[in-house]
Amino acid sequence: MTNILKKFPNDPLPPTVAKADGPYIYLKDGTKYLDATSGWTSYATLGFSHPKIIEAIKKQMSKFTHVDYNIWNNPMIEDLANKIINYSTNGLDQIYFGGTSGSDSVEAAMKLSYQIHHDSGKKNKKNYIARIESFSGATLQGMSVSDLPPLKIFDPLMPSNVVRVSQHNPYTDCLYNSKTRSCECGKDSTKCMGLLKNESIEEYIDRNIKEIEEAILNIGPDNLCAFVGETQLGSLIGDIPAAKGYWEKIGQLAKKYNFHIILDEVYCGMGRSGKLFSYSWDNFSPDFVCIAKNMTSGHVPLSAIVTKSKFQDIIANGSGRIQIGHTFQGHSLGIAACTALMNIIEEENLLKRINIKGEYMRKILKTELDVNPFYKNIRGRGYIFSLEHKCSNNHLFGLQLHKKMKEDYKIIINSKWHRTSFVPPFILNDNQIDLILEKFIFSFKYLSNNWNSYKNK
Ligand SMILES: Cc1ncc(COP(=O)(O)O)c(C=O)c1O
Repeated sequence: MTNILKKFPNDPLPPTVAKADGPYIYLKDGTKYLDATSGWTSYATLGFSHPKIIEAIKKQMSKFTHVDYNIWNNPMIEDLANKIINYSTNGLDQIYFGGTSGSDSVEAAMKLSYQIHHDSGKKNKKNYIARIESFSGATLQGMSVSDLPPLKIFDPLMPSNVVRVSQHNPYTDCLYNSKTRSCECGKDSTKCMGLLKNESIEEYIDRNIKEIEEAILNIGPDNLCAFVGETQLGSLIGDIPAAKGYWEKIGQLAKKYNFHIILDEVYCGMGRSGKLFSYSWDNFSPDFVCIAKNMTSGHVPLSAIVTKSKFQDIIANGSGRIQIGHTFQGHSLGIAACTALMNIIEEENLLKRINIKGEYMRKILKTELDVNPFYKNIRGRGYIFSLEHKCSNNHLFGLQLHKKMKEDYKIIINSKWHRTSFVPPFILNDNQIDLILEKFIFSFKYLSNNWNSYKNK
């Protein structure tokens, strides 16, 4: 009997961690793992227990641990805002330090977007457009723009102000149904959400955009608040950046029909894509960009929304205040940790390294595995990319890859469903990168060569 309400009551307790340091996890029994996933859900971008982040937190603690965001000024916040905005593109010039998690940042952006329409006299703009196969958080409104199989049981509770459109996935020629994870389109061009055979990328984007425009017209532009989506679709569909032109065209629709673009960069932002903001790969101007788990490398919870100062004027002349808030928003220790993280990214020129090393990893994987019958493709940017498998049981193949890497080489990778998702910590050195590549390629070849003895396990 335990006093902990367990998330997985049928499972044994997971192993006890004694220490986590850099990219390594040390168990109580002495086992040492190289964690190539940045903490499994990809937050430990600079590894665990980074000495400079710890030092910054300690320094802050010696002054104060947290002071209320509403009634006291902490100058560190302004300093951090400057550092982050320095990297923004296309007119995003302010940050709202809204909370402590990715879920609350997406939820807050959705509410903020509505408040801005409300304060502009457009109170009916209360509907959102989201995409299938997305994940944007565990709050009710966050779940309403998500499409994750375990969330299905909450359908009866879901707000009804969200319309779903297709994912944007040129790497599949079929729709992954989120329940069955199989194709149901029958290659019908009106239903297929992937790239059809004989369709150009431009035609595919136009088909996506047409579907979005139809949704806008069905909802009615006067009733539409925002389009909500991950800038780069995440691990659920396997780390797929949008094809060039997709976001630009959504930007044009946003101008034409006066709705906001809310981007979820909880997973793909803060440098992971090789630019601080993933949206900066495309030439368009979103209205809200949500960031969270990558802000402090997991040392202290913190979240924020990057946005535009023109909205502050609307709020100032309307409600006079942002109507939502949280006790620990702009948490002083989180601000100190994120400031240290930004300094490290700058001082160590990590964005350049992420681009070079990410490209290197994809090149080696492709060169070594391209001819393997179980290899389908590799796609992504920087340190957020996926290698897609194809075999008689994709999910089992992924699980076996994970198991082999963990048990034989003490390396943790995120391999399941149809892909291995690579989200390594930015601090990996060349030897660690090469070790991950060598063991992964060997395991992939070994399992594919011996699949007959694994496939019924
Ligand atoms: C893309 C995306 N959005 C939102 C969230 C929710 O963030 P949190 O778990 O910090 O609430 C996640 C978490 O994995 C995510 O990957």
